[in-house]
Amino acid sequence: NELGVVAVGFSGGQPKPGVDAAPMALIEAGLIQQLEEDLELKVAYDGQVHSFSELFPTEDPPHRNMKRPKFCSTVTKEVSEQVYNYAMDGKLVLTLGGDHSIAIGTISGTARAVRERLGRELAVIWVDAHADINTPETSESGNIHGMPVSFLTGLAKEERPDIFGWLKEHHMLSTKKLVYIGLRDIDKGEKKILKEHGIKAFSMHDIDRHGIGKVMDMALGWIGSDTPIHLSFDIDALDPMWAPSTGTAVRGGLTLREGDFIAECVAETGCLIALDLVEVNPSLDEHGASDTVRSGCSIVRCALGDTLL
Ligand code: ARG
Ligand code: MN
Ligand code: MN
Ligand code: MN
Repeated sequence: NELGVVAVGFSGGQPKPGVDAAPMALIEAGLIQQLEEDLELKVAYDGQVHSFSELFPTEDPPHRNMKRPKFCSTVTKEVSEQVYNYAMDGKLVLTLGGDHSIAIGTISGTARAVRERLGRELAVIWVDAHADINTPETSESGNIHGMPVSFLTGLAKEERPDIFGWLKEHHMLSTKKLVYIGLRDIDKGEKKILKEHGIKAFSMHDIDRHGIGKVMDMALGWIGSDTPIHLSFDIDALDPMWAPSTGTAVRGGLTLREGDFIAECVAETGCLIALDLVEVNPSLDEHGASDTVRSGCSIVRCALGDTLL
């Protein structure tokens, strides 16, 4: 099994510096080595953390309430192409973020590749404390890392080619092929969107009620077997006890084992085609940074087929 790694040191989708340092921290903790040696994966990696500083626009004023819209747009467009190329090549794609705005790039890339290569529609499992489905108009923060799902599903649209207008039909995901797990901090406007579009979501309440085993059965049942899956894992889905170093931590989250279990269940389907690990910020809660990085490595190993026995 071949793996393509894209390291995206991007923090422009939110205001806190440091999340750009996550790919290097994960790699220095031995992640790629573990994948090669312990999981015996063949890894294609260009050895670079892309910071895309060369794409930084000279001026980037807010547009429709979005902060740094041009920068986020050019970077995600570039990421989209890199992910698309790996996926067209038949590689499973691992993207190390960066903030969650980069999912505009990763998911648009795999959605397009899955259409062209397999003639299929992509399913996305979004593991997060947040739904990240604000439109520019519903967002209270203007931070684009809270908006990726609305652009990917076409709920948010923008004509300007330099501000996400490059997203075309073939990059997009159906709201029916999206499943959330771990939600516990949803904005008012987002709740309305989830309801109106009948989007499948398992909150922490659902996990408490049914247990993570049953929730995964239901989540994978909703997607259906034999559908290519993109797993987008925001480290803040985990409780801050396991992942304190992240920009928008919310208490009452998943245990590390629950996070690993989600990843293991997705691995077991054999349908995983891409994985994002985002929002690790080693410069926040510095004494917890190594724990957060270790948790991230664990999730990735589990999703890529590490088993307990
Ligand atoms: N809902 C909030 C917002 O839109 C928080 C989003 C947090 N997103 C994340 N990827 N950590 O600003
Ligand atoms: Mn989040
Ligand atoms: Mn997120
Ligand atoms: Mn602390």
